[in-house]
Amino acid sequence: MEKMWAGRTDGKTEKAADDFNSSIRVDSRMYREDIEGSIAHASMLARQGIITPEEAAAIIGGLNEILDGISSGKIEVDNDAEDVHMFVERLLTEKIGDAGKKLHTARSRNDQVALDSRMYSRNRTKEIICSLKKLIAALCGRAEEYKSVILPGYTHLQRAQPVTFGHHLMAYAMMFLRDTDRLTDALKRVNVSPIGSCALAGTTYDTDRKYEAELLGFDGVCLNSIDGVSDRDFCVELAADIAIVMMHLSRMAEELVLWSSWEFGFISLSDGYTTGSSIMPQKKNPDMAELVRGKTGRVYGDLVALLTLLKGLPLAYNKDMQEDKENLFDAFETALACLEITTGMISTMTARPDRMRAAAGEGFINATDLADYLVGRGLPFRDAYKISGRIVAYCIENRHTLETLPLEKYREFCGRFDEKVYEAIDLDECVKRRISEGGTSVASVEKQIKAVREKLEEI
Ligand code: ARG
Repeated sequence: MEKMWAGRTDGKTEKAADDFNSSIRVDSRMYREDIEGSIAHASMLARQGIITPEEAAAIIGGLNEILDGISSGKIEVDNDAEDVHMFVERLLTEKIGDAGKKLHTARSRNDQVALDSRMYSRNRTKEIICSLKKLIAALCGRAEEYKSVILPGYTHLQRAQPVTFGHHLMAYAMMFLRDTDRLTDALKRVNVSPIGSCALAGTTYDTDRKYEAELLGFDGVCLNSIDGVSDRDFCVELAADIAIVMMHLSRMAEELVLWSSWEFGFISLSDGYTTGSSIMPQKKNPDMAELVRGKTGRVYGDLVALLTLLKGLPLAYNKDMQEDKENLFDAFETALACLEITTGMISTMTARPDRMRAAAGEGFINATDLADYLVGRGLPFRDAYKISGRIVAYCIENRHTLETLPLEKYREFCGRFDEKVYEAIDLDECVKRRISEGGTSVASVEKQIKAVREKLEEI
């Protein structure tokens, strides 16, 4: 088949070169955006008197039929085509004849591909935001359920202070909420229309870029046509934001793996999200959580690939840019899959409060409260801290916990101790007293859940 761009050359490229050059296996995913963009373009051309209303009607009718055909599966994507733009234009010309050849007036594939990519990215980003909202809602639900379940909070993966499981889960909800914020903000920069930039220099036709942008739901048009066809900041920015989503998912996945181990035993994942071993009958492996953690690496790779792709490119369009889609689409798809699986795991896991409580009872995680108790008895914090540390060391050596150490022993370390110390170090009390904003008390966690749920309504 003769190339649409044959003329300057005979268009008879090597088969290997055609295969190498073709991007349709990746960019055919944008067929809907490509067709919607072309429909708007035809409408604008007709409105400006660049093509006739009859020609526009034929183009739009033909494009709608192609859209139906591809989405219903009646039209198969031709993987030998150069890209989705050429594929659709060829189908149109075959269908409606000469009018089809006028569609490409006052545009270039350079602004067309930028347009399609932005429209496609806009849709997928909205899907990611929607999935993030579902995950956040699931975390709020589980946090509500487990708002008074106590477990050790960790720093350096060493038992630190008692926290509630609800509090811990809400920490993740906050991260994912920031992610929705970041992506929503990025959409502002995605949603600027490049169409009408043409090859790079704009056009001599009397086009109306603003009208075309409005038809396609853009907030405005890019102000420099060279930038319009060269700018892939939105790809990098979205990949970066998605990489952060993945980093958050991966941190949570890591905890799901740890918590579901025999050593921790804090949660049990639903059978629906675990696998068995082909040899060890006792195994219940957290494969899905591990894969979420693992797939984070490939999304980081997507981001670095995009940054590297662009760093040496002179203005304006360069064919290198065709490579951007594979990475960006992979980031979208990986994140969407990971979000769905993670929401499933979070919604169906069961906490094991007995195990959490047992771990909370063993690590002197109320030592800070012991020091605070002495502060309440008039000691400066640094002195109280030192005495408490000595008591902990004594307990470790003599197989005591702070709860089992007799009052006489306490008084040997400091005369200000009285029987109220046991109440001060009671884990439930330790948690209940942490009412500072954002703290771990049930009341504070309830406030956090409420605040996050309110924010979800606004997104
Ligand atoms: N398939 C190309 C891409 O994704 C479309 C733009 C091609 N433009 C060109 N002048 N060859 O970048």
